[in-house]
Amino acid sequence: MTQDELKRAVGQAAVDLIKPQLDDNSIVGVGTGSTANCFIDALASIKHLFDGAVASSEASAQRLRDHGIHVYDLNAVDSLDVYIDGADEINDRLEMIKGGGAALTREKIVAAVAKQFICVADETKLVGLMGTFPLPVEVIPMARSYVARELVKLGGDPTWREGVITDNGNVILDVYNMQISSPADLETRINQITGVVTNGLFALRPADVLLLGTQDGVKTIR
Ligand code: A5P
Repeated sequence: MTQDELKRAVGQAAVDLIKPQLDDNSIVGVGTGSTANCFIDALASIKHLFDGAVASSEASAQRLRDHGIHVYDLNAVDSLDVYIDGADEINDRLEMIKGGGAALTREKIVAAVAKQFICVADETKLVGLMGTFPLPVEVIPMARSYVARELVKLGGDPTWREGVITDNGNVILDVYNMQISSPADLETRINQITGVVTNGLFALRPADVLLLGTQDGVKTIR
């Protein structure tokens, strides 16, 4: 199977997994990226079974609306049973690097609200030690240079993702060569730098379930 076929397989597997728990009042949390897009496309086939969705990006919200799925503002939702999203890297503790699509802050917010986080990923995303994928950090624009200097002190090599403005009006620094031996500690440490909105480590709130697309089928890892 190609990588795109693996992404479609995990998107469908996520729909199959959540389908039994959906009812007329259900709101589904939906992530961002090419794998999340496969989930959205599969979700459209059962849109009559649930009320609507909240999305972690304007792009995903538009894709959901294009399928005729109602998109709620997160502030209008009291609770969220499930959030489905991709990852740039994930380890066997289901800690992740996310934010390759620059949606990390809204992803972290929706994940924080959701009772269950289901990660959908093809097998190329599963790693032993995270950090080959550069760690995205969302930064208030005027703090960009200061935050970059602080990230260098932490051992990283930050690069400004020029031309990219997040849905929140901020900029992204991609941090190369970061040693991520203690993901939760590093997540906390980077978030303490003044001017950082958040970083793409999801270790304090890892996924609960990984649906991993492999050549031997979709594996469920908890
Ligand atoms: C978006 O900001 C990211 O966190 C994505 O969830 C992540 O980059 C995975 O994207 P793909 O499914 O396109 O690889």
